[in-house]
Amino acid sequence: MTQTVLLLPGDGIGPEVVWQARRVLEAVDARHDLDLQFTEGDIGGIAVERSGQAYPAATRALANEADAILLGAVGGPQWDDLPAQERPERGLLAIRADLDLFCNLRPALLFPDLIGASSLRAELVSGLDVLIVRELTGGIYFGEPRGVVTREDGIREGFNTDRYDEVEIRRIGRLAFEAAQKRSGRLCSVDKANVLEVTMLWREVMEALSSEYPDVTLSHMYVDNAAMQLVRDPNQFDVLVTGNLFGDILSDIAAMLTGSIGMLPSASLNAQGTGLYEPVHGSAPDIAGDDSANPLATILSAAMLLRFSLDAPEAANEIESAVAVVLEAGFRTADIAERHSPASLIGTQAMGDAVIAALTD
Ligand code: IPM
Ligand code: MG
Repeated sequence: MTQTVLLLPGDGIGPEVVWQARRVLEAVDARHDLDLQFTEGDIGGIAVERSGQAYPAATRALANEADAILLGAVGGPQWDDLPAQERPERGLLAIRADLDLFCNLRPALLFPDLIGASSLRAELVSGLDVLIVRELTGGIYFGEPRGVVTREDGIREGFNTDRYDEVEIRRIGRLAFEAAQKRSGRLCSVDKANVLEVTMLWREVMEALSSEYPDVTLSHMYVDNAAMQLVRDPNQFDVLVTGNLFGDILSDIAAMLTGSIGMLPSASLNAQGTGLYEPVHGSAPDIAGDDSANPLATILSAAMLLRFSLDAPEAANEIESAVAVVLEAGFRTADIAERHSPASLIGTQAMGDAVIAALTD
């Protein structure tokens, strides 16, 4: 049966890295008979340019039909002056909301060969394997009211609303507990319950859920401490669960521990298992078109796509193993190249070639 993968390359380096991931998917398709069919749509700045909308109706229609979606990145300086409502990033938020992709999985896994590229000392990050479960369709990103108004005194005021209801907290909590069950059984819920009421409720709901998962040890941590602990002793964590804004910030920190944000994949899932897969990094406009971006985060996102949305775990494993082989062989894009190391520095396309060659080894 044909499985449709919608490609949304987006802006900046998005098209280059998605192209490499597509080539890798085609190569595993040939080996595993997955019968993949690719469609392509616009999102973000390119969509604003072409149709005036960051998440156009045509893309929406394709997204609702697809079995899985692979996205590159959105945004760039040329759109920085647009009003908030029209910015490319709104396209990403719109597709997350439209498909109800509330569960964002961001694994931070250190490939042993990249230990020297980590921003922390080797003994602190050795063996790092942390999963961040980020709530993605609620919290301050979506809360109303929001806006910038001019008050009666003539002073402008900006405001957003951080809000979660208990149903939203419970559904992300359950997925985080289940993820912890499949791993080492430790779940740390991150909040700011010493100050913010919305996260007092978050903590209460997580605590109540924990009685249903006796095999998981639940702990709580304030977000400021969690940020500190991630750079002090990241191996204390297994699964972290947190809200939208804290998850955005903590996942960038976790990314750097693995050597580069160019290594981190992500999956955004809804209750039906439809998923949108994207690298955690952004559009990197400064290097767009240079054939120097690291495509591995997108290639690893394609592996997650195969595992979570297309039920093809062997094909997913094969891609992840190929990435490990390529790194072990010393191939590096600029972001993961260590100074003074003999590793061979290669571009985006050559990294895609290397992964494909490792698949067919
Ligand atoms: C991410 C990004 C997005 C977010 C932006 C581009 C809207 O930083 O996926 O982490 O804040 O969620
Ligand atoms: Mg982010």
